[in-house]
Amino acid sequence: MSTPADSAHLMDAIVSLAKRRGFIYPSSEIYGGFNGFFDYGPLGSELKKNIRDCWWNDMVRRRDDIVGLETSIIMHPKVWEASGHVAGFSDPLVDCKVSKNRYRADQLFFAPVVIDGKTVAYVSALESEKTIEELQAAAELYKRKKALVGTLAPVVAKDFTEATEAEYSLIPSPGTGEPGSLTAPRAFNMMFQTNVGAMTDASSVAYLRPETAQGMFVDFKNVIDTTRVKLPFGIAQIGKSFRNEITPRNFIFRSREFEQMEMEYFIHEDADWSKCHQEWIEWCRQWLLSIGLPEAKLSLYAHKKEKLAFYSKGTTDIMFEYPFGVQELWGIAARGSYDLTQHGTASGKPQEMFDEATKKKFVPHVIEPAVGVDRIILAVLCAAYAVEDVTDEKGNTEQRTVLRLSPRIAPVKVAILPLVKNKELLVARAKDLHTKLKRKYAVQYDDGGAIGKRYRRQDEAGTPWCVTIDFDTIEKPGDTFTLRDRDTMKQTRITEAELFALLDEQVY
Ligand code: GAP
Repeated sequence: MSTPADSAHLMDAIVSLAKRRGFIYPSSEIYGGFNGFFDYGPLGSELKKNIRDCWWNDMVRRRDDIVGLETSIIMHPKVWEASGHVAGFSDPLVDCKVSKNRYRADQLFFAPVVIDGKTVAYVSALESEKTIEELQAAAELYKRKKALVGTLAPVVAKDFTEATEAEYSLIPSPGTGEPGSLTAPRAFNMMFQTNVGAMTDASSVAYLRPETAQGMFVDFKNVIDTTRVKLPFGIAQIGKSFRNEITPRNFIFRSREFEQMEMEYFIHEDADWSKCHQEWIEWCRQWLLSIGLPEAKLSLYAHKKEKLAFYSKGTTDIMFEYPFGVQELWGIAARGSYDLTQHGTASGKPQEMFDEATKKKFVPHVIEPAVGVDRIILAVLCAAYAVEDVTDEKGNTEQRTVLRLSPRIAPVKVAILPLVKNKELLVARAKDLHTKLKRKYAVQYDDGGAIGKRYRRQDEAGTPWCVTIDFDTIEKPGDTFTLRDRDTMKQTRITEAELFALLDEQVY
């Protein structure tokens, strides 16, 4: 099997396949696109729906301790004051006064060029998996260009948030390659603002939510008053979130409009939060395996205690090895009682529960697994994509592109392929099977072109099985079809009942 040699090539191949096959398009493409926004095409919207459905079924419907919720995208602005987002939901921004480019200070790296122990200049590079190599190469180039003699020290990289005031004007801008044009970092709030109602003054300012989580906290009392939930219990929600990211990048990995699947799991203030946190980390990991992500590409990153918010007891991210580096896929945070306490204080309505044993009121603590649907989609596309050589029965070798998507999430579960178009009985049997299957599953009827071409089309779409209705189906006893497996390309005979049993077992 061969896959594209380097990571940039792999990302290009995935972006191109996503466009070509109708998974993901740039938003507003006929107007040149819109940075940080994407559209999901026919296959992409099925894939996304399947991922959402799997999560909802496993997280909400198949558990007795979690209920679902759908809250509004625009909430009372006081929600975001109480949650701390108005004051603190920001990234450090650096402007280049000459090129007018903007950078996230924590993604802009620099290093002094040190020759014989003396700093002679600075070099800079944007964050990538090759940042250090790029800085080292830039330092060597500087030394060569200026014909400097002496021993160049290995570069020691820092990000721009760590730069001293004196260094701001000495660090070259990635936009111009020259020092002197970068500003000091400043906090840039990432919430999108809008105005609600006919007035457009300060009194009408509202925000598009930057996370779905606050909906669960604000409706906490509604849920406990209208359901029979008992601690420990969770409230889950899937929905769009919006962040005015300074540098949206890596395709759908970091975008400005994205979808989150978040769950707030409330526990007693005296409960063993660490055990619960660990259990949720493992639940999330297992769930990612259940939709087909390979274990070898997943890892855990526990945030350093000193980098956590003051109220946080611990956060662990499940990381995925994307082609552009190992990056956060799913964050699992132990947030203590911070959010409920904040909303209790700000609204004047304490968000408490009553402990029958101690006869005291208390504010529950929370464990929060929060993941982005789009990041999962990118991970499954990267893990599923392969280009391989296949040899037919005549010994001819050709390349096929295949998406090895799990049947749980594949956009099309089965393709129904009548061998010929002009045999009435055969076509009728194919259409009859199509009608029966599509009541329950996403299936595709394809009678265009040679059978081999049709297989390749389905391989690229990630369809796990193709069913060919051939002459044996109508002429031989048993009413069987040819079932072709996407991954092994093996063909077997199967009855309609066996096909339904296979789908029932694999698509859940
Ligand atoms: N309520 C907690 C919260 O929102 P977060 O780490 O900021 O935490 C949770 O976001 C998840 O949402 C991330 O792990 C990631 O999967 C996804 N996410 C965050 N920002 C994103 C963006 N700009 N584009 C795509 N997905 C994003």
